[in-house]
Amino acid sequence: MSTSASTSTSATSNDAGNAVVLGLQWGDEGKGKVIDLLAAQANVVVRCQGGANAGHTVVVKGKKSVLHLLPSGILHEQATCIIGNGVVVDPLALCHELDELIGGGADPTHRLLVSDRAHLVLPSHKALDAAYEQRKGDAKVGTTLRGIGPCYSDKVARTGLRCGELRDLTTFERKLRTLLAGVNEHLVHLGAKALDIDAAVAQIMPACKRIAPLIADTAALLHQAAATKQHFLFEGAQGVLLDIDYGTYPFVTSSNTGVGGVIAGSGLSHKSLGEIIGVVKAYSTRVGSGPFPVELLDQKGEDLRKRGHEFGATTGRPRRCGWLDLVAVGFSCRLNGVDSIALTKLDILDTEAEIPVCVAYELDGKRIDTIPARIDDLARAKPVYEVLPGWKSAINAARTYDALPTNARRYIEFIESRLGVKIRWIGTGPGREEIVVR
Ligand code: GDP
Ligand code: IMO
Ligand code: MG
Repeated sequence: MSTSASTSTSATSNDAGNAVVLGLQWGDEGKGKVIDLLAAQANVVVRCQGGANAGHTVVVKGKKSVLHLLPSGILHEQATCIIGNGVVVDPLALCHELDELIGGGADPTHRLLVSDRAHLVLPSHKALDAAYEQRKGDAKVGTTLRGIGPCYSDKVARTGLRCGELRDLTTFERKLRTLLAGVNEHLVHLGAKALDIDAAVAQIMPACKRIAPLIADTAALLHQAAATKQHFLFEGAQGVLLDIDYGTYPFVTSSNTGVGGVIAGSGLSHKSLGEIIGVVKAYSTRVGSGPFPVELLDQKGEDLRKRGHEFGATTGRPRRCGWLDLVAVGFSCRLNGVDSIALTKLDILDTEAEIPVCVAYELDGKRIDTIPARIDDLARAKPVYEVLPGWKSAINAARTYDALPTNARRYIEFIESRLGVKIRWIGTGPGREEIVVR
């Protein structure tokens, strides 16, 4: 057993060494850390869906970086990073993120490519996101206000602008002005303030100009890379319970957050995916609105939030906390054919004497073991818990499975037996090296 990133990556079980990393809960499972670990041996790291709503944290030698649009593999110099066609790209957010890395002494621009088919998040999308949320009042989704939903709406309505348009900035500006003028009518109708089109264009065009040289037919490049047996790492964003089809609709994001999103959003076929790795936090969190059966509204929830530093990496909002929900995680495993799990933040449970785990729901007097489609049903579902003994000791120094306390191993093996999926990585702290690889 080893803690080195190279050993952990070479241990991925498919011959090609490719892997997909997906969040199996409501996002913020610790995908950034797992991606960073596995990216040490990847040639290409690909984001396939979502946008700057993501906040993926990587901690290297005590230095914390939060990636939003850039793949978390960007911190590894050998990795080419691709923002695939399924991602919605905010040029301002992308430039801001690049500037942060450049300010830190490393300019990764030469290793970054953006799909010409990816849709652009425009100022109108952010204005509409805010206006829709405002109008919904108490029923709001609690979005990140990054313009994600309105941008994907434009994509599906066939009214969006794609990154490929940036190859001709003059024509792009003309199309952008027309689009913004149309949206202004809509914003006024919604009771929101119309955008100052000249100011919005003046703000976004320098960023568009800057990212224009990064635009490429990334699907074609990925096909070439696949032909030469390059190692791919696909970085999921959000989590399966936020999926537009299978999440807790309408309290979801606007993309497919599972393997389907990886295929559609990269241009590679299922044959290139490799091992499907699900990331699961040792307890549950959710940020934003929507049913959350295991939510702890008492001091226990407060304690988990405090110990786990559960505040959004993108918006800083406090995350709602609860015990591990194996109904939710099992549902995500089945939907995505998950091969193995990275269990993160086990150390946050160090001080618990007893740890409840939700193994089923009770709905209208019946026991169920899957997520109902209607949120009204999910909102009425009551968690059924099994209680496991805690280990009451610090695990952050453990580097081998055998070094973990007996009850920590019991917790891990209980989850494995319930899900029928092997847990191959165990997070014992936020740092790159704080992980047990089995
Ligand atoms: P992501 O969106 O899935 O990448 O997750 P976030 O970065 O939003 O949130 C996960 C948080 O947990 C970050 O602050 C990480 O640094 C931290 N983290 C990840 N793994 C571990 C772990 O095993 N233990 C502890 N204590 N923190 C972790
Ligand atoms: P990562 O990749 C946690 C949530 C928002 C809101 C809903 C819709 O860091 O795990 P959106 O802005 O996407 O329209 O918001 O989805 N959400 C996330 N929650 N982690 C994320 O990303 C999220 N991205 C979106 O809080 O409830
Ligand atoms: Mg996050």
